[in-house]
Amino acid sequence: MTTIILLLLSLTFFAPFSSSTFSKGSSLVSERPSYVLTSPDNVFSAGFYSVGENACCFAIWFSNSSTVIWVANRDQPVNGKRSKLSLLKNGNLILTDAGKFTVWATNTFSLSSVVQLSLYNSGNLVLHNRESIILWQSFDLPTNTLLPQQLLTRNTKLVSSRSQTNHSSGFYELFFDNNNLLSLLFNGHEVSSIYWPEPWLVSWEAGRSTYNNSRIAVLNSLGSFSSSDGFTFLSNDYGAVLHRRLTLDYDGNIRLYSWEKERQTWVVSWQAIQKPCRINGICGANSLCKYVFGSGRKCSCLPGYKMKNSSDWSSGCEPEFDLPHNKRESLFLLLSNVEFYGYDVDYFTNYTLDDCTNSCLQLHNCKAVQYVFEVGDCFLKSLVLNGYHSPDFNKDIYLRLPKNYSFLYNSSVEEFSLDCSRDGTIQLERTYVKSRVNGTAKFMLWFTCGVGGLEVICIFVVWCLLIKTRKSSGADSQGYALAATGFRKFTYGELKKATKGFTEEIGIGAWGVVYRGVLPDNRVAAIKRLNEANQGEDEFLAEVSIIGRLNHMNLIDMWGYCAEGKHRLLVYEYMEHGSLAKNLSSNVLDWRKMFEIAWVLQKV
Ligand SMILES: *[C@@H]1O[C@H](CO)[C@@H](O)[C@H](O)[C@H]1NC(C)=O
Ligand SMILES: *[C@@H]1O[C@H](CO)[C@@H](O)[C@H](O)[C@H]1NC(C)=O
Ligand SMILES: *[C@@H]1O[C@H](CO)[C@@H](O)[C@H](O)[C@H]1NC(C)=O
Ligand SMILES: *[C@@H]1O[C@H](CO)[C@@H](O)[C@H](O)[C@H]1NC(C)=O
Ligand SMILES: *[C@@H]1O[C@H](CO)[C@@H](O)[C@H](O)[C@H]1NC(C)=O
Ligand SMILES: *[C@@H]1O[C@H](CO)[C@@H](O)[C@H](O)[C@H]1NC(C)=O
Ligand SMILES: *[C@@H]1O[C@H](CO)[C@@H](O)[C@H](O)[C@H]1NC(C)=O
Repeated sequence: MTTIILLLLSLTFFAPFSSSTFSKGSSLVSERPSYVLTSPDNVFSAGFYSVGENACCFAIWFSNSSTVIWVANRDQPVNGKRSKLSLLKNGNLILTDAGKFTVWATNTFSLSSVVQLSLYNSGNLVLHNRESIILWQSFDLPTNTLLPQQLLTRNTKLVSSRSQTNHSSGFYELFFDNNNLLSLLFNGHEVSSIYWPEPWLVSWEAGRSTYNNSRIAVLNSLGSFSSSDGFTFLSNDYGAVLHRRLTLDYDGNIRLYSWEKERQTWVVSWQAIQKPCRINGICGANSLCKYVFGSGRKCSCLPGYKMKNSSDWSSGCEPEFDLPHNKRESLFLLLSNVEFYGYDVDYFTNYTLDDCTNSCLQLHNCKAVQYVFEVGDCFLKSLVLNGYHSPDFNKDIYLRLPKNYSFLYNSSVEEFSLDCSRDGTIQLERTYVKSRVNGTAKFMLWFTCGVGGLEVICIFVVWCLLIKTRKSSGADSQGYALAATGFRKFTYGELKKATKGFTEEIGIGAWGVVYRGVLPDNRVAAIKRLNEANQGEDEFLAEVSIIGRLNHMNLIDMWGYCAEGKHRLLVYEYMEHGSLAKNLSSNVLDWRKMFEIAWVLQKV
């Protein structure tokens, strides 16, 4: 109802708008997210993209999948009310937050009588004048995605998103370094390091050349990528595919995606790094990354360390103790098959293990040593970062701990790899609200009403808004009842509708069948319908919250659940290539199994 009224109001005061170009003096307003610029072939849309409860960004996305490919103001979302993108008379394109602050501008200037903003079929948003001279284009300022024919140059870089749902700038960058090499950088708060191409290889070993200074890389629409440093690849579905995009994902991997029309989904057709734990900073400091086949990557704190921020692995873990200085109060705990890349403060060879640990004790900042028995190589580590556990490593780490941690001696690394005792919940990110706006919005409402002589409508609107506020506060407490776990609660009806009545089966597991579904917000989900159990809702919710803690940085996100009557369903992120379906139907990631493991570990 309110929507209709708002629409009526907007139609009264703003010219309706829906095309691929947009001229001087026009604007897009955030209240009408459905009013967008579309490319002539309808593949791309540009407009206000919701990133939270009352927050949006000006973005370009694929119309069908809502996959964002470019964001104007990624680090400064604007208010969902009264924010505006305007093409000024002087040729400047500006984005204003809540009608007040300019948060983003192209800083262009043109006296030409015709200046237009057009969204091309290539996905490029271009500001040009009558002579088609380009004043500004989005292809020059990529965010985390390159489209076919879009150049990556010495002046541009891709920066990952912070997380799957948070489009703000994350920690990973793809760019040409000073040696002309196309590289991936982990740019953390405290440390930064290049992890691709492998830093221990010289450039020619990695198949790269440092001699070509043109620093240009481009993907073509057939799926061939080439860079001026000699790096090239062909996608594994080389040929004419509907759409492609090369994205630096939030987990630090670059992936080439192709749009699969039949299934209406993105599939990965190439990725830079096959071992996700090789990506620096993936689990933060003082932690271990472990790759579990079929369920992805897992992070865990080192023994004696605890998670710094329970909702965010990227800040890593911190010690629960103060490092003792003298030898009698220290012990070194063996972690087998583990490597920490980088941050060696000193190196010795032909040392005994005793020599090695003694040298570590001399240094106040020595956190651990890496020791290789055969040759007596001893590396002293000042930071334990980029920790990676893999059964095929023949490397040992001795972690320095206070003496009273000897009870950890007999536990193996395996036992730390499912760190579920910590309170890690995934919070829904929809908290951006500015109360300041309300006054202005109300004033504007009254003002426009007065001018238009639409008092009747005004009274109606206010009444509608009142009803809406009352309704939405009720809805909040219902829709997000499980704030503590951060999961959305769905009704059975919603999920039935999303899965078109449970028709599209994608896998069968021990505890139920997995279906593909499309949620009301157009996200594609894998919905697992558990076999009917005579378990109470509270009991089920307790388990759901434990799954939340287990998920952490697993590549698969759990989004929500449904517990209604006899129905018990879990809603997960849908992953391409059916890998999720496989995970969910195999016992590897079975939630009940994980719950049991967690329980056992907590008791240990
Ligand atoms: C450098 O790379 C560019 C782009 O890939 C290419 O066109 C050019 O021929 C290369 N220059 C040399 C000297 O190889
Ligand atoms: C987009 O979706 C519409 C309707 O769902 C479909 O007809 C069209 O083919 C899709 N386009 C692409 C490029 O997949
Ligand atoms: C933990 O991380 C989340 C997500 O990045 C952030 O919003 C929150 O402020 C952090 N909490 C603390 C205590 O740093
Ligand atoms: C290693 O040390 C031992 C005794 O400290 C010595 O006999 C041996 O020659 C050394 N080996 C090398 C390769 O330096
Ligand atoms: C170990 O001893 C220190 C003080 O000596 C104390 O602060 C710490 O809590 C102890 N830790 C454990 C796990 O016993
Ligand atoms: C470790 O286990 C061995 C036998 O498995 C036992 O003899 C030893 O006392 C244990 N050490 C600690 C510190 O628990
Ligand atoms: C997204 O991440 C940034 C950086 O950590 C944080 O400041 C911001 O609050 C996050 N946004 C949301 C909506 O959680």
